[in-house]
Amino acid sequence: MSVSIEPFHAIALSRAAHRMAAEGRSVIHMEFGQPSTGAPPAAIAAAHHVLDTDGMGYWESAPLKARIARHYADSYGVEIDPEQVILTCGASPAFVLALSCLFAPGDRVAFARPGYVAYRNVVKAFYLTPVEIGCGEAERFQITAAAIEALNPAPHGLILASPANPTGTIIADEELAAIVAVCRRRGIRIVSDEIYHGLSYIGKARSVLQDERQALIVNSFSKYFSMAGWRLGWLVVPPDLIDAARARMGNLFLTPPSLAQHAGLAAFDCRADLEGHVQTYARNRDLLLAALPALGLRRIAPPDGAFYIYADIGHLTEDSMDFCMRLLRDTGVATAPGVDFDPVEGRHFMRFSFAVSTDRVEDALTRITPWFGAAGAR
Ligand SMILES: Cc1ncc(COP(=O)(O)O)c(C=O)c1O
Repeated sequence: MSVSIEPFHAIALSRAAHRMAAEGRSVIHMEFGQPSTGAPPAAIAAAHHVLDTDGMGYWESAPLKARIARHYADSYGVEIDPEQVILTCGASPAFVLALSCLFAPGDRVAFARPGYVAYRNVVKAFYLTPVEIGCGEAERFQITAAAIEALNPAPHGLILASPANPTGTIIADEELAAIVAVCRRRGIRIVSDEIYHGLSYIGKARSVLQDERQALIVNSFSKYFSMAGWRLGWLVVPPDLIDAARARMGNLFLTPPSLAQHAGLAAFDCRADLEGHVQTYARNRDLLLAALPALGLRRIAPPDGAFYIYADIGHLTEDSMDFCMRLLRDTGVATAPGVDFDPVEGRHFMRFSFAVSTDRVEDALTRITPWFGAAGAR
């Protein structure tokens, strides 16, 4: 019998938002974690150029693999062979490769709850057993070494995400080193989702590769590089898994889009544009952090990175989907219900994505402030 996979609730909400927009309502999209900016101009120019000059066949860009390897040396001080970089169609297929390389049906794979909904579902799709580690305010919604130590029996694998979705919290360097040490001692393989690297407001997030060369690292052009729809990402594997990962990529997906690979290479040289986006997110984060407590949203996960604010709305509802739908209907502001990230506690959390322009955040605050103050929120 096949496994049952839950859809993203935010997609239903987003559909409703698009229907409202089609009916002429003004809608502010803060439901998905995707930059509202497009790819950097130089990446688009590179794409235009290759469209006119390239046959666009199946292709794996050696220059892009070399550039990504250089990124690990420059940004983290870690030397890797470009062959350790497997180019993928985003972080999502990188997970498929990683889980399929490391685990066999029935293996237990742990991850944080709240967490990105696909972790649970991809784990289930591979007939692996999800081990959800409930992480609350006290742990800043993040996995700790102590939590991994306490798991009995030890899981076969652990998915880490720092900065995390939906909270944006970053695991402190010492804690990350301690997690790696426990995993090494207990024989737990780590898959580290570093898709939000580059989007940090408290200093740079550490790559797990700095502490553990056997870890598999997932990354993507969807967030920092603002290229979600181009479908490009990568997986870093240790040398002994290169062949296994390449065989899976070839059989399951062949190659990522050629056009995206050309544009992605150019995007690495667009730091000024991309850092400009980070500055916008930092401003948006400050605005929301200053305004939300006055709306009664005081229990907020510390958004160290990414572009999310995860807020406890337990004083207002026990049905976050209904709450977010009402907020959308009454104000035109689309947000994501916590149930997408946490099947247990998520019914009283909501997530704001602030990967939009500062004007939009200001507009959203103007709309939701009276709603939270009045009967609307209740
Ligand atoms: C934590 C996390 N990992 C992975 C993904 C998937 O990203 P991609 O677009 O690269 O497939 C997302 C998308 O929102 C995410 O939030």
